[in-house]
Amino acid sequence: MDATAAFRLTVGFLVLLVSGGYVGILAVDVSPREWNLIFHCTLGRIFGRKGESRCRGCLFSLDHTLIHTTVGRTPLDEGSAHRRDLYRTIQTLTRDKHPCARFYSYAEPIVTPVTGPVEHGEGPHWDAETGVLFFVDISQELVNRYDPATNKVTHAHFGESVHKRILNPPGGGVSLVIPVQGTETQQLLTTRGHDVILFNWSYENATFDCSLNSKNFTVIATVESNRNKAGNRWNDGKADAKGRLWAGTMGPEPVVGSVTPDQGSLYLLQAGNGPVVKVSPVSISNGLAWNKDNTLMYYIDTATGQVDVFDFNVDEATIANRRKVFNLTENRIAGHPDGMTIDSNGNLWIACFDGSQVINVDPDTGGLIDAVPIPASRVTSVTFGGPSLDILYVTTSRLGLSEEEKKQQPLAGSVFAVTGLGVSALAPANNVIPPTR
Ligand SMILES: *[C@@H]1O[C@H](CO)[C@@H](O)[C@H](O)[C@H]1NC(C)=O
Ligand SMILES: *[C@@H]1O[C@H](CO)[C@@H](O)[C@H](O)[C@H]1NC(C)=O
Ligand SMILES: *[C@@H]1O[C@H](CO)[C@@H](O)[C@H](O)[C@H]1NC(C)=O
Ligand SMILES: *[C@@H]1O[C@H](CO)[C@@H](O)[C@H](O)[C@H]1NC(C)=O
Repeated sequence: MDATAAFRLTVGFLVLLVSGGYVGILAVDVSPREWNLIFHCTLGRIFGRKGESRCRGCLFSLDHTLIHTTVGRTPLDEGSAHRRDLYRTIQTLTRDKHPCARFYSYAEPIVTPVTGPVEHGEGPHWDAETGVLFFVDISQELVNRYDPATNKVTHAHFGESVHKRILNPPGGGVSLVIPVQGTETQQLLTTRGHDVILFNWSYENATFDCSLNSKNFTVIATVESNRNKAGNRWNDGKADAKGRLWAGTMGPEPVVGSVTPDQGSLYLLQAGNGPVVKVSPVSISNGLAWNKDNTLMYYIDTATGQVDVFDFNVDEATIANRRKVFNLTENRIAGHPDGMTIDSNGNLWIACFDGSQVINVDPDTGGLIDAVPIPASRVTSVTFGGPSLDILYVTTSRLGLSEEEKKQQPLAGSVFAVTGLGVSALAPANNVIPPTR
């Protein structure tokens, strides 16, 4: 054990001793960057504060001057211990104020619905220039624009109403939206079914009829439209630091959450070239994020239950050496990994579809840092936004929920804003250079 670990151990036991509480769960994870101690005890004994009943975990900051502790308001029982551990608040003590019985600061993430429910919310993109959030409703084929200044949502509807075709609409399903770089013309890129589309939008509610040619609407690329891939569609995608589009596809989904495996691919689309396959096969191409130095690309194929990473060459637009970052199943995390973003500390925020939560993972250590419960089971994607890029916008879905589940989750389908996380975006989301010509 090196000196740092020994020091952390000392601090850790200090917490245990002053707690005077019952040690129920003890899990130790020594890593170069953090030392987690998960236990529960009578929180009141530590902090002298009423209301919170259990302390579940603690995490030392990198410089060892802060002790973050997690607490819950409900008693633990054997079976739900792990799950409940994620339902928590976080509070931070400075070492010099510890072990005295008071808080240094108290910051509880606040989760607020900011839009009404759509059917299958996805693909949030914060436009830092104009301070609005774009997001899609895949099954209703909407590009939505939420303006926090007015609290209003407007939509651009693609195609005819396709409610009956929603699960696997050949040629249907609007899955991403990214503003085009450097345009004052309100031009955006979206994907619908097999098509990549550029469109001009006034930002008022509008319908783009996909069966007609329109001067406001151009299909610039089409993939997987051959007969054996007819049931595929585009899914998640993002622009990289050079404005190139990385977007992937997925196979047919006859029942929500049940996708024919290995039918899709991840593509690169850049100016001057048609779509180029970068990863294949893929089952459900989803979350993408790049690190600060643009040397790593994080990637989620939902069906793997995993977040992976590639070495990334930003000049050549090449990826290599795929490897695991975090396996949700191995870590007993509820849900399937879906959309993803990265924060200013280089940590990943991952939407957990059918997991009612967003998790925060340190990709260097593969450790779980945080989990934020969301009052909707089908959490689809996340992105940072707001004037300081410190609001985590979370999209959710109500598609495929039973009537009973819809009653239990009346907010399912809403966009939520999570504040008080104490982190912000690594960088504003990139806009796209249209991959035409
Ligand atoms: C535009 O559509 C949104 C839903 O996307 C609706 O809430 C709003 O009332 C509509 N606005 C107008 C002016 O019809
Ligand atoms: C199409 O573009 C024109 C301007 O070029 C604009 O006036 C019109 O509102 C746009 N249509 C839609 C549906 O946004
Ligand atoms: C959008 O508007 C620009 C300029 O107003 C125009 O050049 C372009 O052809 C329009 N249509 C599309 C699909 O971008
Ligand atoms: C993730 O972990 C689970 C449980 O150990 C395993 O079954 C699964 O294959 C892992 N995923 C990948 C992509 O290796």
